Amino acid sequence: MPDTTNPTSSPYRPSILVTGATGNLGREIVDRLQAHGARVRCLVRDQADARPGVESVVGDLREAGAVRDALVDIDAVFLIWPLLDSAPAHDLITELTTAAPRVVYLSSTAIDDGAARQSDPIVQVHADMEALLHDAGLRPVVLRSDTLASNARGWVQQLRAGDVVSGPETARTAVVDERDVADAAVTVLLAPDDHLNHGPHVLTGPELLSRADQIAHLGAALRRDLRFQALPADLARSRMLADGRPEPLVEALIAASVWRPESNRVTDHVERLAGRPAGTFARWAIDHAAEFN
Ligand SMILES: NC(=O)c1ccc[n+]([C@@H]2O[C@H](COP(=O)([O-])OP(=O)(O)OC[C@H]3O[C@@H](n4cnc5c(N)ncnc54)[C@H](OP(=O)(O)O)[C@@H]3O)[C@@H](O)[C@H]2O)c1
Repeated sequence: MPDTTNPTSSPYRPSILVTGATGNLGREIVDRLQAHGARVRCLVRDQADARPGVESVVGDLREAGAVRDALVDIDAVFLIWPLLDSAPAHDLITELTTAAPRVVYLSSTAIDDGAARQSDPIVQVHADMEALLHDAGLRPVVLRSDTLASNARGWVQQLRAGDVVSGPETARTAVVDERDVADAAVTVLLAPDDHLNHGPHVLTGPELLSRADQIAHLGAALRRDLRFQALPADLARSRMLADGRPEPLVEALIAASVWRPESNRVTDHVERLAGRPAGTFARWAIDHAAEFN
Protein backbone atom coordinates (compact mmCIF):
# COMPACT_ATOMS: atom_id res chain seq x y z
CA MET A 1 0.00 0.00 0.00
CA PRO A 2 1.51 3.41 -0.93
CA ASP A 3 2.50 5.78 1.89
CA THR A 4 0.16 8.66 1.04
CA THR A 5 1.42 10.78 3.95
CA ASN A 6 4.79 11.11 2.23
CA PRO A 7 4.59 13.32 -0.85
CA THR A 8 7.67 11.70 -2.38
CA SER A 9 5.99 8.30 -2.57
CA SER A 10 2.58 9.57 -3.67
CA PRO A 11 1.57 8.56 -7.20
CA TYR A 12 -0.05 11.99 -7.56
CA ARG A 13 2.29 14.37 -9.44
CA PRO A 14 0.62 17.79 -9.44
CA SER A 15 1.61 20.90 -11.38
CA ILE A 16 2.54 23.68 -8.99
CA LEU A 17 2.62 27.42 -9.63
CA VAL A 18 5.07 29.30 -7.37
CA THR A 19 4.61 33.05 -6.94
CA GLY A 20 7.45 35.08 -5.45
CA ALA A 21 9.71 32.44 -7.00
CA THR A 22 12.75 34.73 -7.12
CA GLY A 23 12.45 35.62 -3.42
CA ASN A 24 14.16 34.18 -0.36
CA LEU A 25 11.36 31.75 0.35
CA GLY A 26 10.19 31.09 -3.21
CA ARG A 27 13.64 29.92 -4.32
CA GLU A 28 13.68 27.32 -1.55
CA ILE A 29 10.23 26.10 -2.51
CA VAL A 30 11.14 25.73 -6.19
CA ASP A 31 14.27 23.74 -5.22
CA ARG A 32 12.23 21.35 -3.10
CA LEU A 33 9.41 20.88 -5.59
CA GLN A 34 11.95 20.01 -8.25
CA ALA A 35 13.65 17.55 -5.90
CA HIS A 36 10.25 15.92 -5.35
CA GLY A 37 9.80 15.60 -9.11
CA ALA A 38 6.80 17.92 -9.22
CA ARG A 39 5.99 19.94 -12.35
CA VAL A 40 6.87 23.52 -11.45
CA ARG A 41 5.91 26.83 -13.04
CA CYS A 42 7.10 30.19 -11.71
CA LEU A 43 5.48 33.61 -11.98
CA VAL A 44 8.36 36.07 -12.43
CA ARG A 45 8.24 39.79 -13.11
CA ASP A 46 11.30 39.84 -15.32
CA GLN A 47 12.20 37.24 -17.96
CA ALA A 48 15.86 37.74 -16.98
CA ASP A 49 15.02 36.22 -13.58
CA ALA A 50 13.49 33.07 -15.07
CA ARG A 51 15.31 30.02 -13.80
CA PRO A 52 16.99 27.84 -16.43
CA GLY A 53 15.14 24.57 -16.80
CA VAL A 54 12.02 25.77 -14.98
CA GLU A 55 8.90 26.87 -16.85
CA SER A 56 8.08 30.55 -16.22
CA VAL A 57 5.29 32.97 -16.96
CA VAL A 58 6.33 36.62 -16.92
CA GLY A 59 3.97 38.99 -15.18
CA ASP A 60 2.80 40.77 -12.09
CA LEU A 61 0.43 39.37 -9.47
CA ARG A 62 -1.86 42.34 -10.23
CA GLU A 63 -2.17 41.52 -13.95
CA ALA A 64 -5.22 39.39 -14.72
CA GLY A 65 -3.83 38.15 -18.06
CA ALA A 66 -0.51 37.02 -16.63
CA VAL A 67 -2.18 35.28 -13.70
CA ARG A 68 -4.66 33.59 -16.09
CA ASP A 69 -1.81 32.29 -18.26
CA ALA A 70 0.14 31.16 -15.23
CA LEU A 71 -2.84 29.17 -13.89
CA VAL A 72 -3.47 27.04 -17.00
CA ASP A 73 -3.41 23.34 -15.99
CA ILE A 74 -2.15 24.16 -12.50
CA ASP A 75 -3.24 21.97 -9.57
CA ALA A 76 -1.83 24.00 -6.67
CA VAL A 77 -0.50 27.52 -6.15
CA PHE A 78 1.99 28.75 -3.61
CA LEU A 79 0.67 32.28 -3.19
CA ILE A 80 2.32 35.28 -1.62
CA TRP A 81 0.94 38.82 -1.58
CA PRO A 82 3.95 41.14 -1.17
CA LEU A 83 1.97 44.38 -1.49
CA LEU A 84 0.69 46.69 1.23
CA ASP A 85 -2.86 46.83 -0.14
CA SER A 86 -5.20 43.94 -0.89
CA ALA A 87 -7.43 45.93 -3.28
CA PRO A 88 -5.31 45.09 -6.38
CA ALA A 89 -5.84 41.37 -5.59
CA HIS A 90 -9.37 41.52 -7.02
CA ASP A 91 -8.41 40.14 -10.48
CA LEU A 92 -6.13 37.52 -8.95
CA ILE A 93 -8.98 36.23 -6.79
CA THR A 94 -11.29 36.13 -9.82
CA GLU A 95 -8.74 34.12 -11.82
CA LEU A 96 -8.14 31.75 -8.92
CA THR A 97 -11.87 31.21 -8.54
CA THR A 98 -12.18 30.34 -12.23
CA ALA A 99 -9.15 28.01 -12.33
CA ALA A 100 -9.91 26.56 -8.86
CA PRO A 101 -6.47 25.19 -7.94
CA ARG A 102 -5.45 24.36 -4.38
CA VAL A 103 -4.28 27.67 -2.89
CA VAL A 104 -1.55 27.70 -0.25
CA TYR A 105 -1.32 31.26 1.08
CA LEU A 106 1.74 32.51 2.96
CA SER A 107 0.43 34.73 5.75
CA SER A 108 1.71 36.11 9.06
CA THR A 109 1.82 34.78 12.63
CA ALA A 110 1.12 38.32 13.84
CA ILE A 111 -2.56 38.14 12.85
CA ASP A 112 -4.87 38.52 15.84
CA ASP A 113 -8.00 36.58 14.88
CA GLY A 114 -10.03 38.41 17.53
CA ALA A 115 -9.18 41.93 16.37
CA ALA A 116 -11.35 44.06 14.08
CA ARG A 117 -8.20 45.82 12.80
CA GLN A 118 -4.67 44.42 12.82
CA SER A 119 -1.77 46.20 14.51
CA ASP A 120 0.05 47.32 11.37
CA PRO A 121 -0.52 47.53 7.59
CA ILE A 122 1.56 44.45 6.76
CA VAL A 123 -0.42 42.24 9.14
CA GLN A 124 -3.66 43.87 7.98
CA VAL A 125 -3.01 42.99 4.35
CA HIS A 126 -2.40 39.34 5.26
CA ALA A 127 -5.63 39.25 7.28
CA ASP A 128 -7.46 40.88 4.34
CA MET A 129 -5.98 38.37 1.86
CA GLU A 130 -6.97 35.41 4.04
CA ALA A 131 -10.52 36.82 4.24
CA LEU A 132 -10.71 37.46 0.47
CA LEU A 133 -9.58 33.91 -0.32
CA HIS A 134 -12.05 32.39 2.16
CA ASP A 135 -14.91 34.63 1.01
CA ALA A 136 -14.27 33.62 -2.61
CA GLY A 137 -14.83 30.00 -1.58
CA LEU A 138 -11.25 28.99 -2.36
CA ARG A 139 -10.68 27.15 0.96
CA PRO A 140 -7.02 28.21 1.15
CA VAL A 141 -4.42 26.29 3.09
CA VAL A 142 -3.06 29.07 5.31
CA LEU A 143 0.56 29.07 6.42
CA ARG A 144 1.21 31.84 8.92
CA SER A 145 4.93 32.49 9.08
CA ASP A 146 6.89 34.27 11.78
CA THR A 147 9.87 36.51 10.90
CA LEU A 148 11.92 34.72 8.25
CA ALA A 149 15.57 34.13 9.14
CA SER A 150 16.45 35.21 5.60
CA ASN A 151 15.43 38.79 6.46
CA ALA A 152 18.94 38.90 8.01
CA ARG A 153 20.26 39.25 4.46
CA GLY A 154 19.10 42.85 4.78
CA TRP A 155 22.03 43.38 7.17
CA VAL A 156 24.73 42.27 4.73
CA GLN A 157 25.72 45.79 3.67
CA GLN A 158 25.97 47.12 7.23
CA LEU A 159 28.04 44.10 8.27
CA ARG A 160 30.41 44.56 5.34
CA ALA A 161 30.92 48.17 6.45
CA GLY A 162 31.45 47.48 10.16
CA ASP A 163 30.47 45.57 13.28
CA VAL A 164 27.27 47.44 14.15
CA VAL A 165 23.81 46.82 12.74
CA SER A 166 21.33 49.56 13.49
CA GLY A 167 17.59 49.61 13.02
CA PRO A 168 14.31 50.14 14.83
CA GLU A 169 13.97 48.34 18.14
CA THR A 170 11.74 45.32 17.60
CA ALA A 171 9.88 42.91 19.81
CA ARG A 172 11.26 39.41 20.14
CA THR A 173 9.81 37.02 17.56
CA ALA A 174 10.12 33.30 16.95
CA VAL A 175 12.40 33.73 13.90
CA VAL A 176 11.81 30.81 11.54
CA ASP A 177 14.25 29.36 9.01
CA GLU A 178 12.80 29.88 5.51
CA ARG A 179 13.96 26.34 4.67
CA ASP A 180 11.53 25.04 7.30
CA VAL A 181 8.71 27.17 5.91
CA ALA A 182 9.56 25.83 2.45
CA ASP A 183 9.44 22.23 3.68
CA ALA A 184 6.07 22.90 5.33
CA ALA A 185 4.76 24.55 2.16
CA VAL A 186 5.85 21.66 -0.04
CA THR A 187 4.12 19.19 2.27
CA VAL A 188 0.77 20.93 1.86
CA LEU A 189 1.29 21.66 -1.85
CA LEU A 190 1.87 17.98 -2.60
CA ALA A 191 -0.40 16.35 -0.01
CA PRO A 192 -3.28 14.23 -1.30
CA ASP A 193 -6.68 15.85 -0.72
CA ASP A 194 -7.61 13.41 2.02
CA HIS A 195 -4.47 14.31 4.03
CA LEU A 196 -4.81 18.07 3.69
CA ASN A 197 -5.12 20.23 6.79
CA HIS A 198 -6.14 23.75 5.81
CA GLY A 199 -4.71 25.29 9.00
CA PRO A 200 -3.95 28.00 9.80
CA HIS A 201 -0.54 26.47 10.41
CA VAL A 202 1.47 28.78 12.67
CA LEU A 203 5.09 28.35 11.57
CA THR A 204 7.67 29.51 14.09
CA GLY A 205 11.26 28.86 14.97
CA PRO A 206 12.16 27.16 18.27
CA GLU A 207 12.89 30.28 20.36
CA LEU A 208 12.01 33.95 20.74
CA LEU A 209 14.79 36.25 19.59
CA SER A 210 15.37 39.99 19.59
CA ARG A 211 17.36 41.62 16.81
CA ALA A 212 20.25 41.88 19.29
CA ASP A 213 20.04 38.09 19.84
CA GLN A 214 20.14 37.50 16.08
CA ILE A 215 23.16 39.76 15.66
CA ALA A 216 24.91 37.90 18.50
CA HIS A 217 24.28 34.57 16.72
CA LEU A 218 25.59 36.03 13.47
CA GLY A 219 28.67 37.29 15.32
CA ALA A 220 29.32 33.80 16.70
CA ALA A 221 28.98 32.29 13.22
CA LEU A 222 31.24 34.93 11.65
CA ARG A 223 33.67 34.96 14.62
CA ARG A 224 33.19 38.71 14.92
CA ASP A 225 32.17 40.92 17.82
CA LEU A 226 28.93 42.29 16.39
CA ARG A 227 26.47 44.60 18.06
CA PHE A 228 22.89 45.75 17.44
CA GLN A 229 22.15 49.43 17.94
CA ALA A 230 18.45 50.20 18.45
CA LEU A 231 17.41 53.46 16.82
CA PRO A 232 14.56 55.69 18.00
CA ALA A 233 11.62 55.47 15.58
CA ASP A 234 12.21 58.93 14.08
CA LEU A 235 15.85 58.22 13.27
CA ALA A 236 15.06 54.72 11.95
CA ARG A 237 12.35 56.25 9.76
CA SER A 238 14.60 58.95 8.27
CA ARG A 239 17.41 56.44 7.58
CA MET A 240 15.08 54.01 5.82
CA LEU A 241 13.63 56.85 3.73
CA ALA A 242 17.16 58.03 2.88
CA ASP A 243 17.93 54.45 1.74
CA GLY A 244 15.18 54.89 -0.83
CA ARG A 245 12.51 52.69 0.74
CA PRO A 246 8.96 53.80 -0.11
CA GLU A 247 7.21 55.73 2.65
CA PRO A 248 4.24 53.32 3.12
CA LEU A 249 6.70 50.46 3.60
CA VAL A 250 8.79 52.47 6.07
CA GLU A 251 5.69 53.37 8.09
CA ALA A 252 4.59 49.73 8.04
CA LEU A 253 8.02 48.57 9.26
CA ILE A 254 8.03 51.15 12.06
CA ALA A 255 4.51 50.11 13.10
CA ALA A 256 5.53 46.44 12.93
CA SER A 257 8.22 46.97 15.54
CA VAL A 258 5.76 47.03 18.45
CA TRP A 259 5.36 44.02 20.74
CA ARG A 260 2.44 41.76 19.84
CA PRO A 261 1.32 38.80 21.93
CA GLU A 262 0.50 36.85 18.74
CA SER A 263 4.19 36.94 17.75
CA ASN A 264 5.38 35.99 21.19
CA ARG A 265 4.92 32.24 20.96
CA VAL A 266 6.62 29.12 19.74
CA THR A 267 4.66 26.30 18.10
CA ASP A 268 5.46 22.78 16.88
CA HIS A 269 3.66 23.32 13.56
CA VAL A 270 6.86 23.16 11.50
CA GLU A 271 7.52 19.72 12.96
CA ARG A 272 3.93 18.61 12.30
CA LEU A 273 4.24 19.48 8.61
CA ALA A 274 7.94 18.95 7.95
CA GLY A 275 8.35 15.87 10.14
CA ARG A 276 11.29 17.30 12.12
CA PRO A 277 11.75 20.16 14.59
CA ALA A 278 12.29 23.72 13.38
CA GLY A 279 15.93 24.80 13.08
CA THR A 280 17.55 27.53 15.14
CA PHE A 281 18.71 30.92 13.92
CA ALA A 282 22.18 29.98 15.19
CA ARG A 283 22.16 27.14 12.63
CA TRP A 284 20.91 29.46 9.88
CA ALA A 285 23.74 31.90 10.69
CA ILE A 286 26.38 29.15 10.41
CA ASP A 287 24.91 27.86 7.15
CA HIS A 288 24.81 31.35 5.60
CA ALA A 289 27.95 32.91 7.11
CA ALA A 290 29.71 33.09 3.74
CA GLU A 291 27.06 35.50 2.43
CA PHE A 292 28.14 38.10 5.01
CA ASN A 293 31.81 38.20 4.03
N1 LIG B 1 9.94 38.05 5.38
C1 LIG B 1 9.19 37.73 6.43
O1 LIG B 1 9.63 37.79 7.59
C2 LIG B 1 7.77 37.27 6.19
C3 LIG B 1 6.98 36.85 7.28
C4 LIG B 1 5.66 36.46 7.02
C5 LIG B 1 5.16 36.47 5.73
N2 LIG B 1 5.96 36.88 4.69
C6 LIG B 1 5.42 36.87 3.32
O2 LIG B 1 6.28 36.07 2.53
C7 LIG B 1 6.52 36.71 1.30
C8 LIG B 1 7.84 36.20 0.74
O3 LIG B 1 8.89 36.55 1.61
P1 LIG B 1 10.37 36.64 1.07
O4 LIG B 1 11.22 36.97 2.23
O5 LIG B 1 10.66 35.44 0.22
O6 LIG B 1 10.27 37.93 0.14
P2 LIG B 1 11.34 38.49 -0.90
O7 LIG B 1 12.63 37.76 -0.82
O8 LIG B 1 11.32 39.97 -0.74
O9 LIG B 1 10.67 38.13 -2.31
C9 LIG B 1 9.50 38.76 -2.76
C10 LIG B 1 9.06 38.09 -4.03
O10 LIG B 1 7.83 38.68 -4.47
C11 LIG B 1 7.97 39.06 -5.83
N3 LIG B 1 7.09 40.20 -6.10
C12 LIG B 1 7.11 41.40 -5.49
N4 LIG B 1 6.12 42.18 -5.98
C13 LIG B 1 5.47 41.43 -6.92
C14 LIG B 1 4.37 41.67 -7.77
N5 LIG B 1 3.70 42.84 -7.75
N6 LIG B 1 3.98 40.68 -8.62
C15 LIG B 1 4.64 39.50 -8.65
N7 LIG B 1 5.68 39.20 -7.85
C16 LIG B 1 6.10 40.17 -7.00
C17 LIG B 1 9.45 39.41 -5.97
O11 LIG B 1 9.81 39.39 -7.31
P3 LIG B 1 11.04 40.27 -7.90
O12 LIG B 1 12.25 39.36 -7.84
O13 LIG B 1 10.62 40.59 -9.28
O14 LIG B 1 11.18 41.48 -7.02
C18 LIG B 1 10.06 38.26 -5.18
O15 LIG B 1 10.06 37.06 -5.92
C19 LIG B 1 6.48 38.19 1.65
O16 LIG B 1 6.18 38.96 0.50
C20 LIG B 1 5.39 38.26 2.67
O17 LIG B 1 4.14 38.45 2.03
C21 LIG B 1 7.25 37.26 4.90
